[in-house]
Amino acid sequence: MSVKTLPAKIDWQHWMERWDIQQSHHLAMREERFEIMLDAVATLCQPECIVLDLACGPGSISQRLLAQLPESQAIAVDYDPVLLKLGQEALGDVNGRLHWLKVDLNDPNWVVKIQETLARLGRTHLDAVLSSTALHWLTTPRLIDVYREVAQLIRPGGCFLNADHMAFTPTLATFRNLSLQAREQRMEKGTHGVKSETFTQWWAAIETQWLAADPALQTLFDEHHSHYQVRDRSYGKALASLHLSALADAGFLEVDTIWQRYDNRVVLAIRG
Ligand SMILES: C[S@@+](CC[C@H](N)C(=O)[O-])C[C@H]1O[C@@H](n2cnc3c(N)ncnc32)[C@H](O)[C@@H]1O
Repeated sequence: MSVKTLPAKIDWQHWMERWDIQQSHHLAMREERFEIMLDAVATLCQPECIVLDLACGPGSISQRLLAQLPESQAIAVDYDPVLLKLGQEALGDVNGRLHWLKVDLNDPNWVVKIQETLARLGRTHLDAVLSSTALHWLTTPRLIDVYREVAQLIRPGGCFLNADHMAFTPTLATFRNLSLQAREQRMEKGTHGVKSETFTQWWAAIETQWLAADPALQTLFDEHHSHYQVRDRSYGKALASLHLSALADAGFLEVDTIWQRYDNRVVLAIRG
């Protein structure tokens, strides 16, 4: 009689750690950027603040926020069912403090879903909205609208923080070239001399290994791939100056870069 070997179980923590390693490979000083963002929230908001993790992936910001501010709550939103599944399995709901929501930022109705969640939690507005390495996926017209939608959701005096690559203006060709060169050299050399798997390799590995463990997850990967097919990377080119003007226009009173390494920046905006 043949003995059937059971498929290996998915080790959610392993995949969460592997996500952080590959993201840190692509992004210099990823943890320092999170630190700057969370220090701003800790200083500008009450301990029991409610924060939106915008395009959260597996909840990288929420995970760090909830650990650092033990009375805070997070609403983590994304449209990728694979990353949401990873986050939900690895982090859970952190004793009712982490609220997961599937939203597509290309659909303006996402704002209503956040307002409904806030109402369920007995709140009217968010204290802060944080996003990292994500909004470059939006077209520039959509990004401008998302900034207006974010502004509607934040209370007066609350804050928005966006960490991402935001380009120098084309007339600063030397600045642009230096930024590009620094990025390429970093990818080439790896972090502290160690090369990690790339974003593409991570996705290939997770798909192969998750499906081997549980073929029913195929629907999540099908949906994930459908998002990638319609993405047009050529759109994610908003200049840093555009980010700042769009935020000011959306109703933020103080807007500027609070941390920067080449074109890798954290922008802080205070709601008027
Ligand atoms: C590189 S990941 C960053 C995730 C997380 N913030 C981090 O720093 O680890 C970019 C995220 O943006 C999400 N995203 C891109 N376009 C989106 C959209 N239209 N609506 C919701 N999420 C989106 C992707 O699904 C992905 O999770």
